[in-house]
Amino acid sequence: MSLAKPAGARCLLVAKYTESARIGNAREKMKPSGARDAASTVAMRVNGRPVFAPAGASAAAAMLLAGVVCRVSLRGEPRGPLCGMGICMECRATVDGVPHTRTCQMTVREGMEIVTG
Ligand code: FES
Repeated sequence: MSLAKPAGARCLLVAKYTESARIGNAREKMKPSGARDAASTVAMRVNGRPVFAPAGASAAAAMLLAGVVCRVSLRGEPRGPLCGMGICMECRATVDGVPHTRTCQMTVREGMEIVTG
């Protein structure tokens, strides 16, 4: 049995969270005058793109919401959070200028800047 991922296949987790982000962003646009619930969401940027993440979420989750991968492997494969507990290092990204930050281990903050690569 081959475990190789078929060409063009997407990680189901990324696809699920990308869809959630689309729905969430659509709900934000439906609010009067574009107001957001500031108490329950955090405004941040992922690769320069504004993202509203749930307060208390991990930065890794915010990247999934933004529909971006954390990094690309040497073979060009997209990499993302795997363990969610700081062991695998698959969720590394540059956070507020600090490279190789384990994004699963930090909570989103207002104005946080995440750059993947
Ligand atoms: S997901 Fe494994 S270290 Fe962050």
